[in-house]
Amino acid sequence: MFSNKDIAQFANLETPFYYYDLSLLQDTLGACASAAKAYGFHVHYAMKANFNEVLLQKIKETGFGADCVSGNEVKKAVEVGFSNAQIVFAGVGKSDREINESLDQDIFCFNVESIQELEVINELAAKKNKTAKVAIRINPNVDAHTHHNITTGLDENKFGINSWDLPACADMLKQCPQLEFVGIHFHIGSQITNLDVYKNLCVRVNEFAQWFEERGFIVRILNVGGGLGINYHQPEAQIPDFEAYFKIFNDFLEVRSNQEVHFELGRALVGQSSSLISKVLYVKNGKKKNFIILDAGMTELMRPALYQAYHQIENLSKREKGIAAKYDVVGPICESTDCFGKEVEMQETSRGDLIGIRSTGAYGEVMASHYNLRENVRVAYSEL
Ligand code: LLP
Repeated sequence: MFSNKDIAQFANLETPFYYYDLSLLQDTLGACASAAKAYGFHVHYAMKANFNEVLLQKIKETGFGADCVSGNEVKKAVEVGFSNAQIVFAGVGKSDREINESLDQDIFCFNVESIQELEVINELAAKKNKTAKVAIRINPNVDAHTHHNITTGLDENKFGINSWDLPACADMLKQCPQLEFVGIHFHIGSQITNLDVYKNLCVRVNEFAQWFEERGFIVRILNVGGGLGINYHQPEAQIPDFEAYFKIFNDFLEVRSNQEVHFELGRALVGQSSSLISKVLYVKNGKKKNFIILDAGMTELMRPALYQAYHQIENLSKREKGIAAKYDVVGPICESTDCFGKEVEMQETSRGDLIGIRSTGAYGEVMASHYNLRENVRVAYSEL
């Protein structure tokens, strides 16, 4: 919730900008860390959700590791000071350069997504006379019941190694002297709000861990990925229920005494800590619709255009007034999908009003683009 002081401060800043509430971020990180600690679970922050350095510093200070999906994310994690022993590198298409640079950094583990990738990492590690730690990302064919564009764990998805390829994968691991198998990895999708989905995942993880053990592999790491959703309809609910989330894994995963359970949370850690603050450029009354045209567009926040994602929209300048009208809230970009919300019930709105688009801390700033030669996205921070 914004204070009147926050809003007065916004009026002095050039819009649009991402506003980060660092104290909410801190509270969220603390809640996750203590819930994970209760079960001895390890969290790697999925940097793809937001690699803003101010946030990364706070996340690193919480003691989380970094889950990276590109060579540049690995580099950034190292620069920010994440321990190399807590950096994992996932991704379905790692280039030779990215693998080489990560080998040089002696990262904790590569989450490997194909049999061919195993061969390549083995070859590149051999040239450096190194051993690469690898976890096998398995596609468990578990439906995450989320938007189809952010589902990753079904047979039809490009991610991970399918169960029918596991015998060949096990053979390959045995033939690769430069690889050290450390465990198995899963990630079934993002913005998962039905926690029962994770029970199904646990059942599959148990089966696959046993499969590897029966073939003589020691499965030290059970990495169950991320995906915990946030409540976009109630940004004020703010901190996700980490306790309920971790409890499911505690109750349903069969964890042996030599095993560690790893998580890769992104959205749940940073999503609620930011809003995109924008100004109304024009109000246009059409025949069928009224439009609010903002100075922020899909170039700043891509999610509604890309996934029809919902973000709560508030008129911060008219908070004390009653709801009086319905508007389509759109951006200035030359695309019809550049729309943040249709038929949004709001106060009577006028040019110059400040608009808050909520829950934009994850996959917001990092997915911004320069389409239409738009400016770099601006940011502002609350005091702690
Ligand atoms: N681990 C892996 C291997 C992933 O691919 C992802 C997200 C995560 C962890 C973190 O997932 P999270 O906890 O944040 O749900 N741009 C989309 C989301 C894409 C998610 C990609 N992978 C959106 O705006 O909804």
